[in-house]
Amino acid sequence: MKYVFAALSLGLLASCTHIPPVPDPDPQPCDPGIVDFTNEILPMIQSNCAMSGCHVGPNAADGINLSTYAGIMEEVKPGNPGGSELYEVLFETGDDLMPPPPMAALNATQKERIRLWIQQGANETNCAGACDSTSATTYAAVIAPMIQTNCIGCHQGAGASGGVQLTNYSEVSGAVNYLGLVDAVNGVNGRSQMPPSGRMSDCNVALLERWVRDGMPQ
Ligand code: HEC
Repeated sequence: MKYVFAALSLGLLASCTHIPPVPDPDPQPCDPGIVDFTNEILPMIQSNCAMSGCHVGPNAADGINLSTYAGIMEEVKPGNPGGSELYEVLFETGDDLMPPPPMAALNATQKERIRLWIQQGANETNCAGACDSTSATTYAAVIAPMIQTNCIGCHQGAGASGGVQLTNYSEVSGAVNYLGLVDAVNGVNGRSQMPPSGRMSDCNVALLERWVRDGMPQ
């Protein structure tokens, strides 16, 4: 089965840039000790590295296309973070640092998650229930990490996309109230799909909608 999906995604690769994530036909429940590729690493890389003008599509910078697993693996040596370009460039200085200034560098937690994912074998995992949360759906516990992974690469600092900042509670709740954030996440009512690479998991979207319905608790 895996084989068929791999062949299908390779066919799509040749013809288009924005490829919806291939659903895993046999999702495994999430193991908290394992860094998940589809739910964590891919969205983090898409929002920090594979945005328009950077590492996406046929004209990707330096020919490095980081919008798919196959493209990412060109820069990764499974089990060997120190020997992986994808990890090394996060610590460079000057023009070699990625993402390049004035974009924000990844924070220590994000770098550690990438290191651990490579260390664990850099597999194309896609676990089910990655965002099921037993804690209350608050900004701090659920929404901030979701935005951090899926949105913040494009929505912070001087060059924030569309001038939309999503770095703290007041900016995110303001975007819900005044910029149609929930419509954007669903790509409806005239809002561009956010993130542009494709809708987040149903589970993430449901958590976001529940948070808004509950009055956006901090
Ligand atoms: C790869 C870059 C990128 C990522 C990742 C991204 N955005 Fe955006 N976002 C943009 C761009 C570019 C615009 C402005 C242009 C547009 O509306 O198409 C935008 C606009 C918006 C707007 C304003 C919409 C409007 O119609 O005015 C909202 C709200 C938004 N994004 C929310 C999000 C949220 C929430 C996420 C994560 C779930 C996210 N974005 C992830 C690039 C991104």
